Amino acid sequence: MRVLLLGGGGMLGRAVRAAVPAGVLLRSFTHAELDLCNEAQLRSALAEGADWVINCAGWTRVDAAEEHEAQATRINGDAVGVLGRLAADAGAGVLHLSTDYVFDGRLDRPYREDDTPNPQGAYGRGKLAGEQALQTVDGGRWAVVRTQWLYGGGPSFVRTMWGRATAGQASRVVDDQWGAPTHVAELAQVLWRLVGDGVEGTWHAAASGYTNWFEVARAVYAAVGADPALVTPCSTAVYGAKAPRPANGRLDTTKLGKMRLFDAPLAEALHPSRCGVLGP
Ligand SMILES: NC(=O)c1ccc[n+]([C@@H]2O[C@H](COP(=O)([O-])OP(=O)(O)OC[C@H]3O[C@@H](n4cnc5c(N)ncnc54)[C@H](OP(=O)(O)O)[C@@H]3O)[C@@H](O)[C@H]2O)c1
Repeated sequence: MRVLLLGGGGMLGRAVRAAVPAGVLLRSFTHAELDLCNEAQLRSALAEGADWVINCAGWTRVDAAEEHEAQATRINGDAVGVLGRLAADAGAGVLHLSTDYVFDGRLDRPYREDDTPNPQGAYGRGKLAGEQALQTVDGGRWAVVRTQWLYGGGPSFVRTMWGRATAGQASRVVDDQWGAPTHVAELAQVLWRLVGDGVEGTWHAAASGYTNWFEVARAVYAAVGADPALVTPCSTAVYGAKAPRPANGRLDTTKLGKMRLFDAPLAEALHPSRCGVLGP
């Protein structure tokens, strides 16, 4: 199987590269090597032949997207549609990454794949535009994988807390946003399995269990031997980040579980203390 990886230099992209299964011919492109918004570069990469494209490239600066929505949506929305069309012309499927930020976070249960998106911020709107652009490509094969709270081998909330805990710094962290910290190494295995099986459609893929950011931070402090009391809770409203974030970002992964992609559950209940086990 021939696979093109876009965004191969990012946090998830590097994990996908590291987990490439035997028998896969992988060609990976960093941002510097291939700009998702450059149609000619996309065409030329696809011309060499591919069965699947895994797209880990994207604008990921959630707060900055509020001030640069057009730019973020050009990458996360428009360019994904162009990728889908060119891939379809070349006979390749596209596995694309999306996010819980496409939901408004007001539901009182974990979000299923067929729940109605209603993004509250610019980043979520751009990501939803990308999903929709891909889904409406004539004759395209696509899989959209919504995930959340990634960490491992790159800048992330967990890594930031790790640094602050190690330095003995106090942190004020929101305790009213819920989700599951998901390690990129585990997600990468899921992505490879989906691609290997040629699975299409929308999928929610996150670690099982759920928690809030305050509890994650406390677990990280504990994992590095710092005093968890250095972490104090606050509300999203008081914290005042530029971009709105879903209060309930929990993703229902039942559909993925039914696929029996793994003998064991996709990811065992991920207690935040695993942030320490898996590494930031
Ligand atoms: N991190 C999370 O918690 C999270 C949660 C849900 C979904 N996701 C999704 O998962 C995917 C991977 O995220 P990540 O955490 O690995 O983020 P990341 O580390 O920021 O990786 C994104 C990569 O995309 C590259 N990129 C940006 N604009 C590009 C363009 N026009 N052309 C080609 N490459 C471009 C970036 O390169 P530069 O840095 O050089 O610009 C970066 O290497 C994204 O689609 C993101 O929306 C992430």
